[in-house]
Amino acid sequence: MVVQDKVAVITGAASGIGRETARRYADHGASVVAADVDANGGAETIELIKTDGGEATFVETDVIDPTAVENMIETAVETYGDLDVLFNNAGIEGPLAELAEWEDDEIDPVIDINLKGVFYGMKYGIEAMLATGGGSIINTSSVGAAVGINGRSMYCATKVGVNGLTRAAAIEYARDDIRVNSVLPGTTDTPMIHRSDDERQSERTELNASDAMEGRGKPEQVAEAVLFLGSDRSDRITGVELAVDGGFLASP
Ligand SMILES: NC(=O)c1ccc[n+]([C@@H]2O[C@H](COP(=O)([O-])OP(=O)(O)OC[C@H]3O[C@@H](n4cnc5c(N)ncnc54)[C@H](O)[C@@H]3O)[C@@H](O)[C@H]2O)c1
Repeated sequence: MVVQDKVAVITGAASGIGRETARRYADHGASVVAADVDANGGAETIELIKTDGGEATFVETDVIDPTAVENMIETAVETYGDLDVLFNNAGIEGPLAELAEWEDDEIDPVIDINLKGVFYGMKYGIEAMLATGGGSIINTSSVGAAVGINGRSMYCATKVGVNGLTRAAAIEYARDDIRVNSVLPGTTDTPMIHRSDDERQSERTELNASDAMEGRGKPEQVAEAVLFLGSDRSDRITGVELAVDGGFLASP
């Protein structure tokens, strides 16, 4: 029970990595505020947590809307009296296309959700944590922040941006007991990657990279890293980029 009695807000909690992290936090004794634009998926996450005997509340939240993000944070503080952990995880992959093929109207949603959405979460999360005595923020970046992923140029750019936000905020708030770290999942078995599998048919967008370890990562394995970074067991760790990638980034 490494996060017993902590209050955790998790975005993108209706699916994949966010859902598994919400379940893992609840299993380990946290009260969870699960946020997502997908209300049906969010309700399913809450149902799974409650069936397992955990505590969770869903807040429908579009992370591109600062008012909605502020409301998400307020809900945690009003419902559970605190904010200890914030996992800014909601993200989209955008189109699968070489850079010059991206249409103008495909660029903004990727920046708005993956980068500005994380910024808003941090802004309102930090405000609350300053008032409640500190906490831990974890942002979902990607191995695509460290290497190129063909067909996903703007996605990679936003994930580099997430690491920039993480580093700057980590040093700005280190003396306020607020830690800020990123997780960098490698290819992880979630609906996002299943969509990607379906799309990658042309030679130019094929993904030839593989992890050093066999197989693909599971969302539960990313959730474990997020659990550690949200717990007091990582209380000296801030400003880091923790890859959960089966050795992908270490590979030649
Ligand atoms: N799956 C992978 O291989 C992989 C690898 C590296 C990084 N990531 C990152 O992990 C995170 C989670 O991805 P996943 O694989 O679980 O994908 P997923 O598609 O299964 O889940 C993403 C969730 O984010 C939600 N979301 C999308 N836009 C939103 C918005 N505007 N406001 C609130 N919620 C919104 C979706 O409804 C969905 O529930 C993303 O940031 C993604 O970029 C995934």
